[in-house]
Amino acid sequence: METRVPEIADGVYRLSTFVPDVSPDGFTFNQFLIDAEEPMLFHTGQRSLFPAVAAAVGRIVPMERLRWIGFGHVEADECGAMNAWLAAAPNAVIVHGRLACDVSLNDLADRPPRALADGEVLDLGGKRMRWLDTPHVPHGWEAGAFYEETAATLFCGDLLTHTGDPAPITEADVLGPAVAADEMFGAMSLAPSSGETLRRLARLAPRTLALMHGSSFAGDCARALTGLGDYCERRIAAAET
Ligand SMILES: [Fe+2]
Ligand SMILES: [Fe+2]
Repeated sequence: METRVPEIADGVYRLSTFVPDVSPDGFTFNQFLIDAEEPMLFHTGQRSLFPAVAAAVGRIVPMERLRWIGFGHVEADECGAMNAWLAAAPNAVIVHGRLACDVSLNDLADRPPRALADGEVLDLGGKRMRWLDTPHVPHGWEAGAFYEETAATLFCGDLLTHTGDPAPITEADVLGPAVAADEMFGAMSLAPSSGETLRRLARLAPRTLALMHGSSFAGDCARALTGLGDYCERRIAAAET
């Protein structure tokens, strides 16, 4: 498997590995490297991807410089390789919202994680990563996202997931492909709060959405997030009737 590394925003690199046998169209697993005084990796990838992703990161920053490792929730594609990263990057610290640390990461991670409150900013030096709790969006109660304030990039993980091996970044519609993918996977939790949680992200008015599966999006981000919230609420309403 080959991991490709285009830059999708200033100092933000998308590490993308295409796996053809997940879904009929195949599926991308994307990590993001945020280059700053204290570089941060967002998503570790699964343990099986570690050799390819580590080699790709090493082409941009030496392992010794990697300072932070974040992700949006506790699942293998988000954080399966975290302990391999902690072993390879001696100065790196896991960073996540408080709930994931209390429930899982204080136990799972080989070094103590840094816990962030909702709205707290992690200053990377040149980039500012604000943590946002998004319980049950896209799935677990510990879920959250990072919003990089200087370039208005939302690292939104599984939100707007779509299949195939599309361009690294697009302004074309991603909501339609994301709804089609979710109708196939059923990955979005349908909590009563999901619509408002997605509208809260939309109100940030991001300029770029860094998606874990599929193209990053540089179109009308607020509209895409609001549309995903509307989709969740339509499904909840349909289940109630
Ligand atoms: Fe997930
Ligand atoms: Fe994912």
